[in-house]
Amino acid sequence: MFRTGILFGLVFFASAAIAADDVSVEEGLRIATIGGCHDCHTDGFAASGGQVDPEKALRGSQVGFQGPWGTTYPANLRIVLSKMGEDEFVRYSREIKTRPPMPWFGLHAMTDNELKSFYRYVKSLGEPGALAPDYVKPGEAPKTPFIVFAPPQMPAQ
Ligand code: HEC
Repeated sequence: MFRTGILFGLVFFASAAIAADDVSVEEGLRIATIGGCHDCHTDGFAASGGQVDPEKALRGSQVGFQGPWGTTYPANLRIVLSKMGEDEFVRYSREIKTRPPMPWFGLHAMTDNELKSFYRYVKSLGEPGALAPDYVKPGEAPKTPFIVFAPPQMPAQ
C-alpha cells in the first residue's frame, strides 16, 4: 500500500514535469483557466459556470471595473497579442504593470513556457473582434455598464 503510494507519487511527479515543459494550445487553455484570465477577459464566463464561449474567449469586456483608479476594462487579448510575437509577449509579460483589478503580478510569476502556451492559445482563437472601451479617469462618467469596487463599509482607521 505504502509502496504503491510512492510509485504513484513518482509517476505523478514525472507527468507533472512533462506537462510543465509542454508548450501547446491545450496547455494555454489550462493556464488561462487556472490563471483566471477568462473570469474578466471573456464576457459571460463567470455567469456560465466556467464554459468558455469560443466566440467570446478573451475578447475583453464592455463592462468596466470602477474604483479609486477610475474605470478600467479587461482588454481584448486577441488584439493585444496580435501586435507582438511569442518572445516579445514573454518579455512584455515580465514587465507588465497595469491599473487594478488586473492581477499583473500573476504574469510575472508565470514561466516562459506557460506564457508561450498562453500566447499560442490566444493565437488559436478566431477573429480578434473589437477593442474594449477606453480607460475612463476618476470622476468622469463611463458610457458603459460598470461594476463598482468599493467595500460597503470602510474599516475604521
Ligand atoms: C479581475 C479581473 C482580471 C483578471 C482575473 C485578469 N485580468 Fe487582465 N486586465 C484586466 C483589466 C481591468 C485590464 C485593463 C487594465 C488597465 O486598463 O490598466 C487588464 C489588462 C490586461 C493586459 C494588458 C492589455 C494591454 O492593453 O496592454 C493583459 C496582457 C492582460 N490583462 C492579461 C491577462 C491574463 C493573461 C490574465 C490571466 C492570467 C488576466 N489578464 C487576468 C482585468 C483582469
